[in-house]
Amino acid sequence: MKKEVTGVILEGKKVGVAFTGSFCTFSNIFPEMEKLIEVGAEITTIFSDSAQSIDSRFGAAKDFLKKAEEITGKPPILTISEAEPIGPQSLLDILVIFPCTGNTIAKLANGITDTPVLMAAKAHLRNDKPLVISISTNDALGMNMKNIGILLNAKNIYFIPFGQDNPMTKPNSMIADTTLLIPTLEKALEGKQIQPIIKGSEK
Ligand SMILES: Cc1cc2nc3c(=O)[nH]c(=O)nc-3n(C[C@H](O)[C@H](O)[C@H](O)COP(=O)(O)O)c2cc1C
Repeated sequence: MKKEVTGVILEGKKVGVAFTGSFCTFSNIFPEMEKLIEVGAEITTIFSDSAQSIDSRFGAAKDFLKKAEEITGKPPILTISEAEPIGPQSLLDILVIFPCTGNTIAKLANGITDTPVLMAAKAHLRNDKPLVISISTNDALGMNMKNIGILLNAKNIYFIPFGQDNPMTKPNSMIADTTLLIPTLEKALEGKQIQPIIKGSEK
């Protein structure tokens, strides 16, 4: 019988999961984190300033922080100074910005480091290790397309496959298929981009 491969690569791996302010996506993130724990990954969460402070119709910030701590068994990283040691102490094998806002994509593509998540990304990339992006933004095919293009061509940056989520009413919006987190991480740890990177339109 063929051996099940999915998850094996992640066993014992130190995975950073960085939340930015795409609040509608948060409910999809936690089940995927639980799957990562099931395959034996050790997760550290990092929250951007928006992700850790904005209450919205999708839930209260403090409840999201609590849920992250419950799943990982560790308090989230909430400041730039807490995120900085990820570089010098080489704390992560792989980091995923999950979900990644248009705002964070734009800053990352332009070398701006003014949130805990961007500090984590910069610190991690300095170690020549993989960074994975899970895009979730209404302006992916608009103002941010150029920044996504920059990141697609950047060393050590990989994408969870993404597609238009509602082309008729939100024609510039694109969102990653969060269920592809684990296979995307596995490929990225091998230095490869999972394919196909673009998903078909759903509506
Ligand atoms: C309820 C709510 C939902 C939002 N959803 C998104 C989203 O899905 N994608 C996105 O790019 N920005 C979204 N935003 C805007 C970001 O939260 C905002 O740009 C913020 O500055 C992002 O900061 P960060 O990237 O540091 O987390 C949303 C804002 C609110 C209040």
